[in-house]
Amino acid sequence: MSYLKLENLTKEFVGRGGEGIVRAVDNVNIDIQEGEFLTLLGPSGCGKTTTLRLIAGFEFPTAGKIVLDGEVINEQPPNQRDMAMVFQSYAIFPHLNVFENIAYGLKIRRLPAQEIKEKVRRVLELTELTGLENRAPNALSGGQQQRVALARALVMEPKVLLMDEPLSNLDAKLRELMRTEIRRIQQSLGITSVYVTHDQVEAMTLSDRIVVMNQGRIEQVGSPQEIYRHPQTEFVADFIGRTNFVPGVVKAVEGQNVVVEALGRPLTIPLAERMLREGQHVKLVVRPETIQVVKGDAQYQGIIRWASYLGNVVEYEIEVAGQVLIAVDYDPRHTVIHSLEAQVGLNLLEDCLYLLPENGAD
Ligand SMILES: Nc1ncnc2c1ncn2[C@@H]1O[C@H](COP(=O)(O)OP(=O)(O)O)[C@@H](O)[C@H]1O
Ligand SMILES: [Mg+2]
Repeated sequence: MSYLKLENLTKEFVGRGGEGIVRAVDNVNIDIQEGEFLTLLGPSGCGKTTTLRLIAGFEFPTAGKIVLDGEVINEQPPNQRDMAMVFQSYAIFPHLNVFENIAYGLKIRRLPAQEIKEKVRRVLELTELTGLENRAPNALSGGQQQRVALARALVMEPKVLLMDEPLSNLDAKLRELMRTEIRRIQQSLGITSVYVTHDQVEAMTLSDRIVVMNQGRIEQVGSPQEIYRHPQTEFVADFIGRTNFVPGVVKAVEGQNVVVEALGRPLTIPLAERMLREGQHVKLVVRPETIQVVKGDAQYQGIIRWASYLGNVVEYEIEVAGQVLIAVDYDPRHTVIHSLEAQVGLNLLEDCLYLLPENGAD
């Protein structure tokens, strides 16, 4: 049974730039399980924030339903929804110290002072802020302010925790640390969470499931592995990680495999859930790490057009049969770094390849 359900959720705005009606959220259906960490991922403007604000009650849907724990909550104001939101800007009160900021919502609920103290103490511990109770927000680092925002949401013990790009104001190192922290806290509390980001790495590392959005619509819902290994559309394959799209033609379907001719040679690829027929034009999704670059005999021969040594990996651009492929070599010994214009062999890990129909979804 789903815990939080979005049913045909649609939100239209009157465009700000005189472009008429903007459909920010377009017929979105999502089932969120209790305790699940779900991330809405997509480029800027695809409707992530609007979806989150609809869930929170800061916006009301043009059409569709929001169901929480079996109850339709479309009409409920935000303060009756038993949800808490963490904003990108943190939105902590500058004139209140850390304790007062975190205690604020509980005071409004008129909880007894002793109970407030105890609840705040617990979340301070959870977010590793103990000892900073009396600090003013402007005496906190970015990371600490972020923790206060999170603590203030958690202290309310909401049914659903909503987070809108909460890490985007932090530097790279801190973002990585807080990513782990958020996941650890979410797991320890088992709190149902909906997280919004445009950062695919954040989405991959945090989420049980990812919803990839594009222009207000859902492109795909799946676990990080499903989304990466079996992208259902070109948009998803392109947005999550890096991809070489290689055109191919289906030559035969043989049991659990499909034979595809690509770059002038047949490849045997595991048959995914799609229906394929002989002669059909497809696109192979070839991740850079599924191309092995070797010296001598191989499936393909290519010419190194670019090589970048990044320390942990070497990235190549290799021309094969008129197409340039990106390959990533993860060998930590890097005994060979191929030079520009060198002729190399390429082997594709056929069991890691995936097929898309030529014109997007079937
Ligand atoms: N209050 C509003 N009025 C008019 N258009 C809006 C409003 N809020 C969002 N939009 C439009 O809806 C679309 C989705 O916006 P948003 O949900 O903020 O995207 P995201 O969070 O994915 O970047 C954008 O085209 C945006 O300009
Ligand atoms: Mg946004």
